[in-house]
Amino acid sequence: MPKSYSEYLELERLLALQGGLTGAEGDLAPSELLFIVVHQVDELWFKLALHELERARDVFAAPQVDESSIAPAAAGLRRVVRTFELATAHFALIETMSPRDFLDFRGRLGSASGFQSAQFREVEILLGLEAADRVRFGEHEVMQAFAPKAGIAGWAERRVAARSAERPTFKAALEAWLARTPIDGSRAGAAGDAEQVDAFLDAYLACHHREVDAAMAAQQPGATPDPQVAALYAADKEQAERFLRRGDDVRSDPRRRRIRAALLFIESYRELPLLAWPREVLDLVIQLEQAFLVFRQRHARMVERMIGRRVGTGGSDGVHYLDTTALRYRIFGDLWSVRRLLVRRGAAPPLRHAAFYDFRSP
Ligand code: HEM
Repeated sequence: MPKSYSEYLELERLLALQGGLTGAEGDLAPSELLFIVVHQVDELWFKLALHELERARDVFAAPQVDESSIAPAAAGLRRVVRTFELATAHFALIETMSPRDFLDFRGRLGSASGFQSAQFREVEILLGLEAADRVRFGEHEVMQAFAPKAGIAGWAERRVAARSAERPTFKAALEAWLARTPIDGSRAGAAGDAEQVDAFLDAYLACHHREVDAAMAAQQPGATPDPQVAALYAADKEQAERFLRRGDDVRSDPRRRRIRAALLFIESYRELPLLAWPREVLDLVIQLEQAFLVFRQRHARMVERMIGRRVGTGGSDGVHYLDTTALRYRIFGDLWSVRRLLVRRGAAPPLRHAAFYDFRSP
């Protein structure tokens, strides 16, 4: 049976959902409709983001990723990036309200806060934010806000608990795929792979260290290097060594070492034809995390402008808590860290098996 526009979109129900505490729009403060609508729209964007992230996660979670499924997964990731960019732009809309406009109805919110957005937590969890990496929320662990009160788990608590129990996360699925990346023609698990990966890393680190020395010489030509600046360049070398070879995480976990080698390889030889999709996916993942971080930062500035540094309705220390999350949360930390050790085009070591990454003619 064909439906009309309003039936298909269930507009009668949708447009009856902005009544606030009493359910009557006439009781709303002048700017309260704006406040409710922006939150509801953002929750719809979060719903869309979760849907796309689940689909992308399922693609990369396959034991063998079908090349033809990567394009739709990449399109989904791009959609999530745009969604977060749009949600971020809504804070400017909130700022059409003055701090006093907000104070007209802030008291009605009680302890309600975006902090209790189940879908926002779900996005974090599905992406791969670990509970142990969360910042504390005032006196509490962040996730305590979702602990069942008096033994009764509400809708938000149940959603977050179910999402926390779900495996794999998008990050885990992506890393499983990255861990299988052939590195200079060497396939994961093949005889001699560990040695080939080591040889690649040794060669890369030697180039990296030469590049750092050249950068320092260019920055301080002819002079005896300033010890403080020299220490910064030395720290660049040290970070590269730890990241790829000497850190506890890579020494105790050969898979982590291979994932990092894969990131370095894809970023450094990104023009090779067969690396076209991997580089596109990595670009989208970093864009996605950047969009998420910018959402956090922009929200914090809007909040500071609206309520200053007072306590949040959710009970946190407000802007300080929000800024700390923006500073600390890096789900795809390796993808950010690898950037510090990339070298100029042409300065990376020549590959032994570059032809492995050409498109094969039929
Ligand atoms: C006048 C407008 C707003 C103010 C003053 C405000 C204030 C705050 C504050 C102070 C917090 C920290 C938790 C707390 O103690 O309550 C918070 C968290 C949060 N807010 Fe807002 N907010 C506003 C609008 C929005 C909007 C439009 C959204 C969009 C969905 C949003 C989403 C969130 C989310 C997701 C968190 C949790 C962040 C995290 O824990 O990492 N807020 N908000």
